[in-house]
Amino acid sequence: MVESLEFDLIICGSGLAGLRAAIAAAKKGPNLKIGVVSKVQVMRSHSVSAEGGTAAVLFEEEGDTIESHVYDTVKGSDFLADQDVAERLCVEMPQEIHQLDHWGMPWSRRPDGRIDQRNFGGYSFPRATYASDKVGFFEMQTLYDTCQKFENIEYLNEWFVSSIIHDGKKFMGVTAIELSSGTFYTIKGKALIIATGGAGRLYSFSTYALSSTPDGLDMGLRAGMALKDMEFVQFHPTGILPSGILITEGARGEGGYLLNNKGERFMKTYAAGKMELAPRDIVSRSIMTEIQEGRGFKHETGVDCMKLDLRHLGDEKIKEKLGGIREISIKFSGIDPADDLLDIRPVCHYMMGGLHTNIDGATEIQGVWAAGEAACNSVHGSNRLGANSTSECIVWGKITGELAAEYAMNNTSSNPWPHHLVSAEEKRIYDGIFRGNGDVNPYEIRQQLTDTMNEKAYVYRNETNLVEGLKKIRELKKQTWKHVDDKAKEYNTNFSNVMELDSMFRVAEIVLLGAINRKESRGAHARTDYTKRDDANFLHHTLAYYDPNEPIMKTYPVTITKYQPVERKY
Ligand code: FUM
Repeated sequence: MVESLEFDLIICGSGLAGLRAAIAAAKKGPNLKIGVVSKVQVMRSHSVSAEGGTAAVLFEEEGDTIESHVYDTVKGSDFLADQDVAERLCVEMPQEIHQLDHWGMPWSRRPDGRIDQRNFGGYSFPRATYASDKVGFFEMQTLYDTCQKFENIEYLNEWFVSSIIHDGKKFMGVTAIELSSGTFYTIKGKALIIATGGAGRLYSFSTYALSSTPDGLDMGLRAGMALKDMEFVQFHPTGILPSGILITEGARGEGGYLLNNKGERFMKTYAAGKMELAPRDIVSRSIMTEIQEGRGFKHETGVDCMKLDLRHLGDEKIKEKLGGIREISIKFSGIDPADDLLDIRPVCHYMMGGLHTNIDGATEIQGVWAAGEAACNSVHGSNRLGANSTSECIVWGKITGELAAEYAMNNTSSNPWPHHLVSAEEKRIYDGIFRGNGDVNPYEIRQQLTDTMNEKAYVYRNETNLVEGLKKIRELKKQTWKHVDDKAKEYNTNFSNVMELDSMFRVAEIVLLGAINRKESRGAHARTDYTKRDDANFLHHTLAYYDPNEPIMKTYPVTITKYQPVERKY
């Protein structure tokens, strides 16, 4: 017999978007039963790793404006952002900074006590609100602490949600596995918010937690929702070698330099107006161009890299403002940035794509919303500006939390529960995966998949590589990796790994197909065979729908309100 639970609102994911949604929903509907279901413990959600800042306009009296934040976001997006959505982010965000402050967020402050902000790439004004370089950790603590005030929020930690149950139109519940016991459950609900984060572990060189796989995206896809703009993968310029752990853009915001092997601040060649604080897509391409033209360095592991110089910032500033990355550099690379140069290289850091939503975060299934990195409401277009992601999580966490709560309070559906869908999911998981057969090691296949993405769909792309990548992924997919050798029920990480891998194949294919179809260069999608942006043919979003044979690819219009696309110059 399948075990069963019931909530009014299910929130899948316990990062910044999920927790902000839980607070908003609990306030809106004090009588609602809210379940936050997460693959990990709350404070192990990947949001805790956010480092450098949360963007908002705080200092209008010093010349900053909402309009400038909107324009920077749209220009940074290479004009693929939906401009009404970008405006919503920028209008809503300042009050959220103050809200977090009231909830106890220890923002870094100016000497006069006002909240401080630092420079970040692509902005016309220092707009990244920060707490040293541990922004995500403190934001998560603040939100989780605030959640404790609401008795109607429950936490199902270490539960793997596997599918969405709906009646063809309307949400009814999810299926999930309680990882501690291996028990399969149905969780009935009136409304769902998907806030499962990004899927950057599709790449082997990645700033993401190992848990950042596309299972949340994939369950939406299998339920009939589109994934949007998945070809746009952000490579952060400064992943430290050899691990790929993030060295925050705040390091350059505080004055750090990028140097080539001639000792030059090479960004003067590519973005003389902004130097190291050009948007990430441009800085990452500049690093790769320098490397390809012979002006890079070789790390001791044999990997090509560039140098980040923070020495001139001085011990005191590094300790106060960049203490987290100093510790990371010492522990994981054996280098103290106060004394020596760091070896860095572009690293997979963010996915602009995600579950297709409207401006309110509503998906194509009634009663289901998506927020944060799992969603693509098109606020970032083809290239996100740093510090706009934690902002997005907070703004759309709140919006979707309120809307989903309202929906759950008014929804009186009594459709018959579709037992056949639950049985089909049980069969998919237990017959298809847990009791599957095969002699190919799924861990090795996962490594090959992520290495292929790194090799074939990195900062610079071209038709040959992308097609080879797709061929390789499809070959790997056909191999007999769908089996679980450890048959234990409790905390079976072998099982979770194969479940994750299953979702990775479907989503990797969509990233590659989207990248092959987009025969232009725009934002983070840089093709060496189509080097220009092509607004005549490609000023549109990409949608991908599930089909058992091959994803169905479509296009979707971009919303342009005020700003006609122009060439980006920095
Ligand atoms: O560099 C960073 O601190 C990253 C921030 C972000 O991705 O928004």
